[in-house]
Amino acid sequence: MIIAIGADHGGFYLKSQIMEFLKEFGYKVNDLGTYKDEPVDYPDYARAVSQEILQNKADRGILICGSGVGACVAANKFPGIRSAICHDTFSAHQGVEDDNINVLCLGARVIGTELAKEIVKVWLAAEFSGAERHKRRLDKVNEIEREFLKR
Ligand code: RB5
Repeated sequence: MIIAIGADHGGFYLKSQIMEFLKEFGYKVNDLGTYKDEPVDYPDYARAVSQEILQNKADRGILICGSGVGACVAANKFPGIRSAICHDTFSAHQGVEDDNINVLCLGARVIGTELAKEIVKVWLAAEFSGAERHKRRLDKVNEIEREFLKR
């Protein structure tokens, strides 16, 4: 599985920790920046990670900013991206199993490195259940996207 990862300055340090962790487990990681801790804008990294997934260059993405909020809001603007902030392991696996999220957002100023690693591990191990009710709900989400893109 190929993971695209991006962070703003707030998530820069946690990104390097998560990347090391992912590589240890044999994942291929596409690091889309930022590459230093100078202030940058989170939408640029949300764009980079989202496009990597939409262009099939990565299977899933991880976005890290200070709170996880800005990156998550920005990523969800890309049709086809389903991102969520998960700061607990339950949301991390259920977000994939039920809601098929393809981008995990983390807030580096909210959670510590060890919890972040646990969350990433659980998120990566989870798969969409494919259950009829979840497909139906996701179809409705897609319908909202289609309807409002037309305006
Ligand atoms: C940057 O200071 C901060 O606003 C950003 O990292 C993030 O927390 C936004 O949601």
